[in-house]
Amino acid sequence: MSETPSTYNYKVVRQFAVMAVVWGIVGMLVGVIIAAQLVWPELNMGFLHFGRLRPLHTNAVIFAFGGSALFSTSYYVVQRTCHTRIFSDGLAAFTFWGWQAVIVLAAITLPLGMTQGKEYAELEWPIDILIAVVWVAYAVVFFGTIAKRKVTHIYVANWFYGGFILAVALLHIVNSAAIPVSLTKSYSAYAGVQDAMVQWWYGHNAVGFFLTAGFLGMMYYFVPKQAGRPVYSYRLSVVHFWALIFTYMWAGPHHLHYTALPDWTQSVGMVFSLILLAPSWGGMINGVMTLSGAWHKLRDDPILKFLITSLSFYGMSTFEGPMMAIKTVNALSHYTDWTIGHVHSGALGWVAMISIGSIYYLIPRLYGKAEMFSVKLITVHFWVATIGVVLYIASMWIAGVMQGLMWRATNADGTLTYSFVESVKASYPFWAIRFVGGVLFLSGMLIMAYNMVKTIVGGRTVDDALVLLPAAHHA
Ligand code: HEM
Ligand code: HEM
Repeated sequence: MSETPSTYNYKVVRQFAVMAVVWGIVGMLVGVIIAAQLVWPELNMGFLHFGRLRPLHTNAVIFAFGGSALFSTSYYVVQRTCHTRIFSDGLAAFTFWGWQAVIVLAAITLPLGMTQGKEYAELEWPIDILIAVVWVAYAVVFFGTIAKRKVTHIYVANWFYGGFILAVALLHIVNSAAIPVSLTKSYSAYAGVQDAMVQWWYGHNAVGFFLTAGFLGMMYYFVPKQAGRPVYSYRLSVVHFWALIFTYMWAGPHHLHYTALPDWTQSVGMVFSLILLAPSWGGMINGVMTLSGAWHKLRDDPILKFLITSLSFYGMSTFEGPMMAIKTVNALSHYTDWTIGHVHSGALGWVAMISIGSIYYLIPRLYGKAEMFSVKLITVHFWVATIGVVLYIASMWIAGVMQGLMWRATNADGTLTYSFVESVKASYPFWAIRFVGGVLFLSGMLIMAYNMVKTIVGGRTVDDALVLLPAAHHA
């Protein structure tokens, strides 16, 4: 209890930052294992087969790794930009331990096959209730801190974090509504096509808010900080915010093209996905252009390399997404590895890289050091990770387009040219390349963990004194 109200609460920021790296390694290791299982099917052993481990991978990387990175950075950013200590130390600590409990419960129940069967919302109802409680506590801590801010203005990063927190609460509670039949089994409150629509309204906005809006909050704080430049256009950032959150909400049906969902609903999803290109690129350009006048810094600052490269992948995946949402393109891409390539250009290229850059920024500041133990190792991490992502997504694009073309190829008499298993066989070399890409990305995370431990061991925990502003700035 050495904390006093005259400092920021960095303890919770530290805890989540360290756990982000730990869960990143765990989640990506499971990713590498399932990638290996696709190459060597004999690795599917007992209950640790692909079907059980795949949801463990997605939950671990999205909610444990991504979630911890979001909690950590949002608690840091909201305190620093509001010039005030976090709203409640106790509640903040509760969100840390509560979130870790959710992750551990997920790691136990998913391999045992306990699932609601909804992608990215697999966890059974008792865990869902715990998530809802932790999330409400998160909202109270975050918005409570905003309410007691010492400056009038609410910096744009907080708008993105705030939008992410509110939207995720709404999505989680609506999509998880279910009727329990036992402690470990429940049935969705929705049926048939409505169930599918609610699920993909959730699923797409999980991408839009969990995997995007929160990380844009990171972008708006850490890119200007690391570049030592103000945000390129503050006005654009505000337009970016409102345009993005409004548009995302309507795009979900692009996951359900050519299904029983009414055709007009699919078209609405497609059109809004195309519109989504504009705010996405507006935001990406705003982030990248923040570097204008400071481009030379990119040459020897590996943290900036991570941040700016993540924005390039963000731009790429948000160009690709709208294209894949066009029905005729989706007719080729759906069910193929093209989707998996798209997912990981967003997930590894954008989400993981911006988190890694932000955590490298944070760790020395949280542990009283001027910089990380080894800046050189950050550079090594950057290149290993970048090559890993490129191998992953390029192999999946080729495999995906090949699969789509093989499935639709017909002979003159109308019969299929290829059997399904032929397309599986043709995919093997690409799955092997993806496996290598995954191993590289995971190795980068291990280098990061080493660098982090060395920095922490050589440092001490610090809680900076509050930055007090002249009276004119006060609310
Ligand atoms: C403008 C932005 C984006 C649009 C319009 C978009 C659109 C799409 C489309 C059309 C699909 C394929 C649906 C299907 O055939 O089943 C898809 C899948 C997916 N996208 Fe995106 N995308 C965007 C950005 C992103 C980003 C930035 C990420 C990650 C950070 C991401 C993550 C995913 C995931 C996880 C899936 C797979 C969902 C599943 O089937 O499990 N997307 N997206
Ligand atoms: C070492 C890094 C990683 C490897 C090797 C890896 C590997 C894989 C594999 C093999 C799949 C299953 C593909 C299939 O069903 O055919 C998958 C799915 C998925 N991964 Fe990863 N992954 C990695 C990192 C990540 C990260 C960091 C994220 C998110 C932040 C992520 C998000 C996802 C998602 C959302 C899916 C489901 C996609 C869908 O249903 O369309 N992955 N991953």
